[in-house]
Amino acid sequence: MVGTCDPNSRVQSSYQIKEVFASRDEEFSRRSDYKNGKKFALNELRLLNMLIRCRLLRGLAALLLCLSSCARTEEPLTSSTPRPREPGKPDVGFVTTHERIVDRMLELAEIQPDDVVYDLGCGDGRIVLAAAKQYGVRAVGIEIDPKLVELARENVRKEKLEDKVTIRQGDIFEEDFSDATVVTMYLLPELNEKLMPKLAELPRGSRIVSHSFAMKGAKPETVETVLGKKIYLWRVPWRKE
Ligand SMILES: C[S@@+](CC[C@H](N)C(=O)[O-])C[C@H]1O[C@@H](n2cnc3c(N)ncnc32)[C@H](O)[C@@H]1O
Repeated sequence: MVGTCDPNSRVQSSYQIKEVFASRDEEFSRRSDYKNGKKFALNELRLLNMLIRCRLLRGLAALLLCLSSCARTEEPLTSSTPRPREPGKPDVGFVTTHERIVDRMLELAEIQPDDVVYDLGCGDGRIVLAAAKQYGVRAVGIEIDPKLVELARENVRKEKLEDKVTIRQGDIFEEDFSDATVVTMYLLPELNEKLMPKLAELPRGSRIVSHSFAMKGAKPETVETVLGKKIYLWRVPWRKE
């Protein structure tokens, strides 16, 4: 009936209103969920992006580190214009001798049990360690760089060769190596040349083996090429060139 107010219909309409509000609330919450979800997804994407960038940067850093260490081991030394000496500083950088070249250098020296082997500028100590390990002789490495001295000493400890190998921190131009009967070097031509007066004083028959570089004015007994690198051998007293 028009104009009448049926209490039942009022109850019904109040239910309908509630339903409408409820569905609106639902819609609203769905929308805000959607918005929040979108925000969340965006934040996640940003985070992922940051993570990928971090990983890329870390990868790049690792690659650069690897390349620099490879350069350290493989880049050949080249003779350079002599620079003024800085006391306490290396005259040449650290570049390692390949294991096969180390083995051949020691073979060429014909090491005997009573020999004393010195490596002038011993780096990580690989030559003196190989001499002590393969020939059971006493060996001394002289190295100026304190970090390399520590590394070489650590390698000696690892190999348990403390009774045979000594790593001395010092300058090859100042240290005494007059008890050497075998000397190995991987330096530079001008440094070899500068060492000649001291090398010439070594006991008769001492062998000097140099990786890559000659000694101007001294005629080598043997010159060999291993892995594309020259190995020079002299015996004291050497012949003039
Ligand atoms: C090319 S590396 C050779 C390393 C090692 N003998 C080898 O063959 O693997 C030359 C080494 O000599 C060291 N050195 C350079 N000048 C030196 C000096 N005046 N006295 C002692 N060591 C020196 C450097 O620190 C470096 O470790």
